[in-house]
Amino acid sequence: MAASSTVSQISVARTEAGAPPRHTLLVRITHWVTVLSFFALLVTGAELIVSHPRFYWGEAGNSGTEPLFRIPIPASRGTVPSGYSYTMPDQNGWSRYLHFEAAWVLVITALIYGLASLLNGHFRRNLLPAPAQRNWPAFRAVFARYFRRGPPDAGEANSYNVVQRLSYLIVIFVLFPLVILTGLALSPGFNAAFPIVVTAFGGRQSSRTLHFFVTDLLVIFLIVHVAMIALAGFWSRNRAMITGHIKSQPYQTKERV
Ligand code: HEM
Repeated sequence: MAASSTVSQISVARTEAGAPPRHTLLVRITHWVTVLSFFALLVTGAELIVSHPRFYWGEAGNSGTEPLFRIPIPASRGTVPSGYSYTMPDQNGWSRYLHFEAAWVLVITALIYGLASLLNGHFRRNLLPAPAQRNWPAFRAVFARYFRRGPPDAGEANSYNVVQRLSYLIVIFVLFPLVILTGLALSPGFNAAFPIVVTAFGGRQSSRTLHFFVTDLLVIFLIVHVAMIALAGFWSRNRAMITGHIKSQPYQTKERV
């Protein structure tokens, strides 16, 4: 309880008319651009996997070498051994172009969001757990409430709880940099300019395999993220992420899923 009262004291915004928004315009725009490019990357990335659903470790790997593992689906190329006697339609062309375009949109958006949030104190104020949240009981209390599917504390109308803060920090400072770096490591141009990055990941094929696993972790984050928002009030939370403002009584039971 001590933790939740402190959460309300460190709230980032109030809900009264004319008060600062719960989410700044920059956070809202960069969030939804990230969501759009993330979905474009997922769809096109899945198409790229269909072209070659085998994963390798080390520098080299191809249809003639033993894979580390393979996704049990037919490939879109007849030359790729998939264990199936037929091939899927080949969507490799447009999906490859869109994957790169969406990736650059994501990188630029992440840089704008990251730089602005460092300079305006958003990371420090709203995402770094507050001193009263930095303990196991505070963390466990939020977790237990999610498992009970209980309503959020009043302070959470204006501020993230400790589980949200930690998951956002992991996504922003660990998973995003990793998915971008392992993706860049697959580019021959980047490879020539910064070979040390590819070496650090264990080779080009290892980078591709790691890129796939980090994406899986981001998909798991997305599922949990949306489930947590649904528990807190799907429409009121998303309305706030679109308009910037949360209703002063966002926790009516009819709004909870
Ligand atoms: C359909 C998918 C998504 C929906 C509906 C959604 C919705 C939301 C909402 C409503 C919030 C505010 C939470 C609150 O006020 O308690 C939020 C915050 C956030 N979301 Fe999402 N989100 C989605 C996908 C994503 C994806 C794909 C990512 C990144 C991989 C992401 C990363 C974040 C981050 C980092 C924050 C905190 C932003 C900040 O305050 O700086 N979200 N999201």
